[in-house]
Amino acid sequence: MRRKLVIGNWKMNGNRAANSTLLSGILAGLNDFGADCAVCVPAPYLAQCETQLQGSAVAWGAQDLSVHASGAYTGEVAAAMLVDFGCRYVLCGHSERRAYHHESNELVAQKARAALAAGLTPVVCVGETLEQREAGQTAAVIGAQLQAVLDVLENSELIKIVVAYEPVWAIGTGKTATPQIAQEAHALLRAQLAARDAVAAASMQILYGGSMKPENAKELMAQPDIDGGLIGGAALKAADFLGIIQAV
Ligand code: G3P
Repeated sequence: MRRKLVIGNWKMNGNRAANSTLLSGILAGLNDFGADCAVCVPAPYLAQCETQLQGSAVAWGAQDLSVHASGAYTGEVAAAMLVDFGCRYVLCGHSERRAYHHESNELVAQKARAALAAGLTPVVCVGETLEQREAGQTAAVIGAQLQAVLDVLENSELIKIVVAYEPVWAIGTGKTATPQIAQEAHALLRAQLAARDAVAAASMQILYGGSMKPENAKELMAQPDIDGGLIGGAALKAADFLGIIQAV
């Protein structure tokens, strides 16, 4: 049985005062809802998360990392630095980074490798655009995104990654994928993982992201291959984030 996981992706949002209120609200409302949860925050706020969340049931992480361990890479953040601030997770290949920073499948794979090498759990994000879906390319696109990562992993490492299916056309649009559409994509990803290692695939968490809200979370997470959510907008309000966690 796979444990559910709900991760809030704050994206480039927050300030120390608002973060403190949000984190306090999450901690105050969190019971043992049967799901693991985490927040992935902008790097400047990792110290605040470590201070406020240390010892709680809420883990934290980052939204990106460098493929380099250290050195002359101005502006980049190394995996070891994220470990320094107690991070458990790091997003790799979020669609916004693939789009705005032209991150290739191969670069995302190297980021996942760097995360694993430092003991972090990479959350590998895959997802198709509306044009790709309408052209019938969804399976090929998300399959290639995942395969690039699988190609650089040992079988023993599969269980150490989390996969997030985030149809780009559902992110921030309110146009959530139907449970059926989401399940179909998750099943494809699970089958691809199983082709590599069936035992690992059965235990791996595949999260859905793309306008998941308290009102649609339960039906989405009732799907056999949806193991949780990667939440954007709804992660910025404690009541909404808790409402999703309670829906597992
Ligand atoms: O990484 C999660 C994010 O892309 C989903 O955003 O606002 O549609 O929940 P949102």
